[in-house]
Amino acid sequence: MHPWLSTAEWLIAILILIPTLYAMLRGAPFVPTPMEEVRRMLKAAELKPGDVIYDLGSGDGRLVHTASRLYKAKAIGYELSPLVWAWSIFLSLFWRSKAQLKFGNFWNKDVSDAKVIVCYLLPPAMENLKQNILPQLKPGTLLVSHAFQIQGWIPYKELERDREKKLAPVWVYKIGAEKSAPKSKPKKARSKKG
Ligand SMILES: C[S@@+](CC[C@H](N)C(=O)[O-])C[C@H]1O[C@@H](n2cnc3c(N)ncnc32)[C@H](O)[C@@H]1O
Repeated sequence: MHPWLSTAEWLIAILILIPTLYAMLRGAPFVPTPMEEVRRMLKAAELKPGDVIYDLGSGDGRLVHTASRLYKAKAIGYELSPLVWAWSIFLSLFWRSKAQLKFGNFWNKDVSDAKVIVCYLLPPAMENLKQNILPQLKPGTLLVSHAFQIQGWIPYKELERDREKKLAPVWVYKIGAEKSAPKSKPKKARSKKG
């Protein structure tokens, strides 16, 4: 093999691997949210046409495409893993939505214009989100988290785990109301069974 070619191949592999490993370790690996969960997360997000929604780690883009198509929201996703992002761009051809799928590290982005933020990130990333991103958000902004909670915050809504349908719980937090003692238990939106 020509030595230049093998150097180029190494460089490409490193350029793909470094951001992918960073995203896995500082956020979460690519595991797509089941479509039924996507629909109930977005229903809980109370979106209106034109609302800005970000998916922090947008994976294959299913959340932002669905938000754009079903709710006419201005939906933006950030994805740092090059292969996952390239896959999401390819899938966009079939979704035909107005969602924007951006390649980039969401930790460095300004998401302060969000009405809703959705995420599916591991607990250390949720803690980082609480310290570094959520303080920038406007009161009333909703954070809709698949599977993982923000420790110490009181949810505005909680969608229960549905073992039959293999759906994890969803935690919804309202910025500005996350620390106040709930007057009653958080609203529970139960999925219909059968
Ligand atoms: C568990 S997946 C969720 C994908 C999608 N949100 C969904 O629910 O189907 C998490 C995604 O976040 C991406 N990610 C993790 N850290 C990131 C970062 N700092 N910037 C952008 N994307 C990141 C990962 O590459 C992965 O695709």
